[in-house]
Amino acid sequence: MRPIRSITAMTFSPTGTTRRIVSRIAKVLCEKACRGRVPAHRDFTLPGARSEGASFREGEVVVFGVPVYAGRVPKVLSEYMKTVRGNGALAVAVVVYGNRDYDDALLELTDLLDSQGFLVAAAAAFIGEHSYSRLIAEGRPDEEDMALAAEFSAGVARKMGGAVPMAKAVAKGHRPYRELPVSRNEKGEAIDLSGARPQTSPACRECGQCVEVCPMGSIDREDVSAIVGECIRCNACVKTCPSGAKYFADGDYLTVKRWLETHCAQRRTPEFFL
Ligand SMILES: Cc1cc2nc3c(=O)[nH]c(=O)nc-3n(C[C@H](O)[C@H](O)[C@H](O)COP(=O)(O)O)c2cc1C
Repeated sequence: MRPIRSITAMTFSPTGTTRRIVSRIAKVLCEKACRGRVPAHRDFTLPGARSEGASFREGEVVVFGVPVYAGRVPKVLSEYMKTVRGNGALAVAVVVYGNRDYDDALLELTDLLDSQGFLVAAAAAFIGEHSYSRLIAEGRPDEEDMALAAEFSAGVARKMGGAVPMAKAVAKGHRPYRELPVSRNEKGEAIDLSGARPQTSPACRECGQCVEVCPMGSIDREDVSAIVGECIRCNACVKTCPSGAKYFADGDYLTVKRWLETHCAQRRTPEFFL
């Protein structure tokens, strides 16, 4: 195994859970495999950061993390992913999900990185507080998750330091990737969240923090209650608002939220593929 030149964490993380896990993995991996150096961090959550691609080379390691949206890699990233080039660099693929399931997202992410010229040396699925609710996987990643992230990094460092040629990590999932089955609301109609938009209560102090964190750049700076572009329901505005003034009131959205709160309470554990 050639020496590791650098380690970079790359994250899309509207509500910050993916960023926390990936930062920990990259830091511990750097301590173990890249002594004396600190990892770089490229966060591509905001639209400006996705306007330029990224290019790596052999000898570099990228810890690449995204949240799971509807059991898959967020669709909003499909164009951006084409601009990230591995050129033989090693990748560690990480997905973070809200305690329901990660379905085919990790397999999809490893395939995407592979097709962009990375050798995916390791993969993992971690759990973060659900974007839709503070009650599902509340406060995660927690201490136990962070300890497991360090354990995962130690395993990755051992694999990278091994004498045998690097084998590609095989993640759990199905090809072709599956779409989630259609859910129905109380009226028996197919659930459709495409029209759900965050609302703004009178508690809003117009501080503009929601404008700064929206990964789609969709909140009007002049009137922060107006959504002027696409909303991916990432909840960055809801969870960032210091006045608690942002919320979703859409009926189908609330049905999904209640379902998740009832059915996804049992703690799930991170999974590693080395
Ligand atoms: C649109 C959307 C779809 C989601 N779909 C899933 C899912 O299929 N399974 C799951 O367990 N969590 C799902 N989640 C929850 C996120 O994966 C989870 O909360 C993650 O920790 C958020 O990452 P972030 O903090 O980096 O934004 C979804 C969240 C959003 C916004």
